[in-house]
Amino acid sequence: MFSLSLKLRASLLLLASVSCVHAASSVFPAGVIATGTQGVNNPPVPTLGTAINQTSMARLLSVNSIDDFCLFAPPTLANISDTETFEVAWCTKPRNNARVIPDGTITGVSFLKTPFYVQLMGTGDFTKLNIPQGDFGGELDPHGAYGAGNPVGGNVTTNVVDGEDEPIAEWMLYIDYNQFCIRLCTSANSTYSAAFMCWHELDEMGCEFVMPGTYNPPGTFETCDADVAYPPGWYPSVVNGVTSFSTFAQYFTGVYTGNDGQPTSYTVGDTVTPSGPYSTPSSSNCVTTGTVANGIALASLGVTASGSGASASRTSGGASPTKSSGALSGHGRAGGGGGSGAEYAGVALVSLVVGLAAVGLFH
Ligand SMILES: *[C@@H]1O[C@H](CO)[C@@H](O)[C@H](O)[C@H]1NC(C)=O
Ligand SMILES: *[C@@H]1O[C@H](CO)[C@@H](O)[C@H](O)[C@H]1NC(C)=O
Ligand SMILES: *[C@@H]1O[C@H](CO)[C@@H](O)[C@H](O)[C@H]1NC(C)=O
Ligand SMILES: *[C@@H]1O[C@H](CO)[C@@H](O)[C@H](O)[C@H]1NC(C)=O
Repeated sequence: MFSLSLKLRASLLLLASVSCVHAASSVFPAGVIATGTQGVNNPPVPTLGTAINQTSMARLLSVNSIDDFCLFAPPTLANISDTETFEVAWCTKPRNNARVIPDGTITGVSFLKTPFYVQLMGTGDFTKLNIPQGDFGGELDPHGAYGAGNPVGGNVTTNVVDGEDEPIAEWMLYIDYNQFCIRLCTSANSTYSAAFMCWHELDEMGCEFVMPGTYNPPGTFETCDADVAYPPGWYPSVVNGVTSFSTFAQYFTGVYTGNDGQPTSYTVGDTVTPSGPYSTPSSSNCVTTGTVANGIALASLGVTASGSGASASRTSGGASPTKSSGALSGHGRAGGGGGSGAEYAGVALVSLVVGLAAVGLFH
């Protein structure tokens, strides 16, 4: 089913006429700027310097620079997979009526700017943001089971493209107890739509597969330019000088009950798992920063960073497409998927060049 819908989308993408959205002062390709309503708990627009409220339920992320960004994390101590629909915004600075990330939480960040997206990869102690020690985490995006976003009412902006706060339609955040990665898709062309570049259905695969780049150990704070990655799960191949792409779709199984009342099991994808992304784009022009801190003594304001952390967790049931896990660890586990014969899937062919069947790299 994934492959069919991918093919359909690819064709629609080809057929789509070029249309653009005017946002603030700039013109963006179709599909980049969010035009819907703002989440109910969010301020109408991103706002710096809002009152500190560590019980806030606001869900507006701004991702502007290495020391001005926000993440989604649980409102109270809970596994990511149990709280995807109601995670809340935590920001490095007081802004957006959101919670403030306590100093000492973030231990490293790479902030990457590319022509198609902004991407942050970071390390930290996210037990300070209510994620239990050992939780493999999960994936958040503007779609979710109800089509209203995970979290519902979660919105994301950036001012990186043109200095204005632009609402971004397609984004994805992977977070677990000690690492995160987030991508905001800020541009598109007729090959790479924003939806493909922020493709959100590989939630078992982990940061390094879905958002390849230079992942540094804790202690590095850098702002870089970077080359554009292929969209998540895309593998190019060139046949007779024409480039086409095969795509990897995550494997899952399930059971449905048909009209006859009989439960029937189904499987999507096959059991071949790629060992990694096609390529890892390099960073350039990196500028390093000492650390990321706001100097706010949250304890003196009578608020404490919660997070206790005794429980380790494992969120991947291995079967349900709505459960997700593994912000960073997915790559390693995914590499073993073919061996287990049951974890992951298949290569669906998506020919972006009309009339040309792509050759799957993994068949
Ligand atoms: C807020 O998020 C919802 C759910 O993803 C989306 O439909 C809506 O367009 C977003 N609105 C803005 C202003 O970003
Ligand atoms: C903090 O946020 C909570 C949840 O949104 C809200 O009920 C409460 O009134 C806010 N507190 C302050 C002081 O604004
Ligand atoms: C879209 O951008 C990518 C990355 O720069 C490029 O490889 C591709 O050729 C572009 N597609 C078109 C139709 O310009
Ligand atoms: C997280 O999930 C694990 C495994 O299901 C469970 O044992 C643990 O109690 C959960 N932690 C919390 C805080 O809900």
